[in-house]
Amino acid sequence: MLSPEENELVTRTGAGTPMGEVMRRYWMPAALAWELPEPDCPPIRVKLLGEKLVAFRDTEGRVGLIDEFCAHRRASLFLGRNEEGGLRCVYHGWKYDTKGSCLDMPNEPQETNFKHAVRLKAYPTAEMGGLIWAYMGPPEKVPPLPKFEWTQVPENYRHLSKMWQECNWLQALEGAIDNAHAGFLHRALTDKTTRAGLRGYWENSQTPRLDVHLTDYGFMYTATRALPGRQNYVRAYQYVMPFHQFFPSQIAHSGSAAKLKKPTVRGHMFVPMDDENCMVYNWTYTFAEQPLTEADSEQLARHIGSAPEELAADFRKLRNRDNDWLIDRQVQKTETYTGIEGITTQDHAIQESMGPIVDRSRERLGSTDKAIVAARRLLLQAAQTVREGGDPPGIDTSYYSIRAVERVLPDGADCLEALKAEVNPAGR
Ligand code: FES
Ligand SMILES: [Fe+2]
Repeated sequence: MLSPEENELVTRTGAGTPMGEVMRRYWMPAALAWELPEPDCPPIRVKLLGEKLVAFRDTEGRVGLIDEFCAHRRASLFLGRNEEGGLRCVYHGWKYDTKGSCLDMPNEPQETNFKHAVRLKAYPTAEMGGLIWAYMGPPEKVPPLPKFEWTQVPENYRHLSKMWQECNWLQALEGAIDNAHAGFLHRALTDKTTRAGLRGYWENSQTPRLDVHLTDYGFMYTATRALPGRQNYVRAYQYVMPFHQFFPSQIAHSGSAAKLKKPTVRGHMFVPMDDENCMVYNWTYTFAEQPLTEADSEQLARHIGSAPEELAADFRKLRNRDNDWLIDRQVQKTETYTGIEGITTQDHAIQESMGPIVDRSRERLGSTDKAIVAARRLLLQAAQTVREGGDPPGIDTSYYSIRAVERVLPDGADCLEALKAEVNPAGR
C-alpha cells in the first residue's frame, strides 16, 4: 500500500516531476528500428514521458527525435516532408535537422538570418538491438548504452514487438514482477486447446515463495514452487531500473509456450507515453546455437498476442477495453482461465481493467507481492536520490550480462548458489 502522495510520486513522469526526472536519466526505447526503414522515409509520431515528438531518418540515415510542433506556428511535423538532410514543415517550409536546428526558412527574407535563432527541442538517439533509443535527460549525464545481452545478439536470434497499453506504466511493470498471477491469469485449462496459455509446473503451487535479492541495478527475485518428489521449480527473474523485466523460458512446459523448443530469455520494457498510457516493448532472444526461425517468430507473436492482425497501425490492440478485450465466456469455461487470447493481451486486459492509474492506497498486499513492494521502494528512493543531485541505480553497466533462468532443484538447495553462474554468466 502507498499513501496517495507516494502513489502520485511514483506514477507521474512529466517533465519536472520527481519520477519524470528519474526516467530522464536512462536510455529509453522510442521506436522499433523498422518503423523508420530507410533514409528520407516518412516520419513517425513518438510520445514519451508526456512529450509529443516526431522521429525521422534523414538522408544520411541519422535518426532525429524532435518536438512534434514546428517552431513557427506549431504545425505538426508529422505531416512534414523528409528531404535532403532534414524534416520540412509543410505549412511554410521551415526545415529542421536531426539536432533540431532550423536549416531553412523560405518564407523569410534571406538577409534576416532569423533561422539561426530558431531551434526545436531535440533528443539524442542511438540505434541498437533492433530499437531506436532516446535519452531525454541532462546532456552531461548520458549513461552508457543499454547493452543487454538481448540487444547484442545477431538480429535473427531475437524477436521484438511492441503494444500500446492503456494504463500507467507502473501498473504494467507491477504485473510483470508479480509472479503469482501467471498460474491463474495465464492458465490453460486443458492440453487440448490451441489457445495461448500456461500449463505444466505452473499448476503445482498457487502460492510460490518469493525471495528478493537486491543488486546495484534493481533486483533478482526467485519464485519457488514445490513439485512432487522433494523437488522445487525455481524461476529467477530480473528487474532492472526503471522499467525492465526479464523472465526465463527454458523448460518445455505444456501449453502454447512449449511449441518453441529453443531456450530463451524474454522480457518487457514498460515505457511511459504519458501518465495514463505506456508502450510495452516485448523481447525474446535465444542463446541456442540455432537462430530463431520464421516459424518460431510466428509462434512467439501468437503466444504474446502481438501478431500484425492483433494490432492497429499505432500499436493499439484490436482487443482493447472498448470491446472488453473480446473476452469469450465459452472459452473461459472450457479452455483458458480468462477467455482472452494472447498472454500479453491477458496482462494488458487485467491491468487496464484497474483504471488508468490504480489507487494504491486502497490495496491489501500479501506475501506474493514482495517484489512489487521492493520495486516501489527502489523507485521512491531513486526519486529522492535524483532530487538531491545524485545518480539513480541501473545507469552503470553492471546489468549487461544478466539472464533470467528456470530450473528444477532438489528440496533444500541453495537457489542463489545454484543459479549464480547462470543468472550472471560474466560474474559481475
Ligand atoms: S508552422 Fe511550420 S513553417 Fe509555419
Ligand atoms: Fe502475466
